Amino acid sequence: MDREIKLILSCESSCDETAFCVFDVNSNSVVRNVVRSQFVHEKFGGVVPELASQEHLRFINELCDVVSLNKEISLRDIDIFAATAGPGLPGSLVIGSSYTKALAWHFKKPFVPVNHLMGHVCSVSIENNVKYPHICLSVSGGHTAIYYVENELKYELIGGTVDDAAGECFDKISKLLGLGYPGGAKIEALAKENDYKDVFKFPRAKTKGLSFSFSGLKTAVLYKLVNDGFYNLEKKSLVKYIQSEYVRDVSSSLLCAISDMLVSKVAVSLNDFNNVAAISFVGGVSCNKYIRGKMKELARNKAIDFYVASPKHCIDNAAMIAQAALFLYKDNPSKFNNYSSDIFV
Ligand code: KG4
Ligand code: ZN
Repeated sequence: MDREIKLILSCESSCDETAFCVFDVNSNSVVRNVVRSQFVHEKFGGVVPELASQEHLRFINELCDVVSLNKEISLRDIDIFAATAGPGLPGSLVIGSSYTKALAWHFKKPFVPVNHLMGHVCSVSIENNVKYPHICLSVSGGHTAIYYVENELKYELIGGTVDDAAGECFDKISKLLGLGYPGGAKIEALAKENDYKDVFKFPRAKTKGLSFSFSGLKTAVLYKLVNDGFYNLEKKSLVKYIQSEYVRDVSSSLLCAISDMLVSKVAVSLNDFNNVAAISFVGGVSCNKYIRGKMKELARNKAIDFYVASPKHCIDNAAMIAQAALFLYKDNPSKFNNYSSDIFV
């Protein structure tokens, strides 16, 4: 590196979370962290882009002050500014990245634009001494992907979904059952109460190679509810009270099906490479303890390491953006001394 880098201030605003972090480079740890989730979307059952932008704009200044205004740190002490520059909702990305870039410009410090998906891949490096190459399964509300991660900077997409993301599948079924948005954690809690029993044995998609598909599973659950008389397709709503036992049965069966599909594709990917040192599991869905357990079991059976981040670094967060920014900056510091970066969506 050109000069000593001690502190990074990073921002993540690609969807419906406004997050800032101050990251200490020497200890590779988070000094201060703040995330504000937006609850305005709950009644719509999904994120409304215009509302997301408004909420980011309304709270961004206050949130940045929370992480950067205190006795120990001032914005003048920050050596690198970084922000998510894509992919994501364009209006949300522009607010976080322009705000952070303006701070970098004001303090004459480098600005590092970061790809959100690279941020998720790097999230496990915050708390683990990561070995390479490894296979990374990245699963959230917007994507489901498998990467071959060669080193800190080089990762290749080797598998992805042909339709919906696994997180979206949790969210849509949760909405169908009247449990609200986001749905993953709610479905997990109900599945746990039901001892993760695979009551309905929903079909697992038989997709080629390393591709995933979750739309058939979504339809299978929908038609189960229709055939059992709970849901009316014309009215697009529940038409009779669903007993909690039934909701638990659907939840645990759904979790088993999603988990099986994710784990089986990672197992296939391991057969394609003979030098893999570990498996990592990242993204919002990696908060799920049941799927974590199954992935860990797979790694143990293959005698390789398993990495997962703490839940606050699995969901969208700014610490993973700081970690990715550090890798990018170390590789080529001179690349980040102008402020002409674009957003990539
Ligand atoms: O990474 P993330 O915060 O945002 C995106 O980039 O999409 O992931 C959010 C997704 C949502 O679909 C949410 O339902 C899911 O992660 N999620 C979970 C759990 N916690 C969050 N899915 C399954 N089990 C969980 N415990
Ligand atoms: Zn994400």
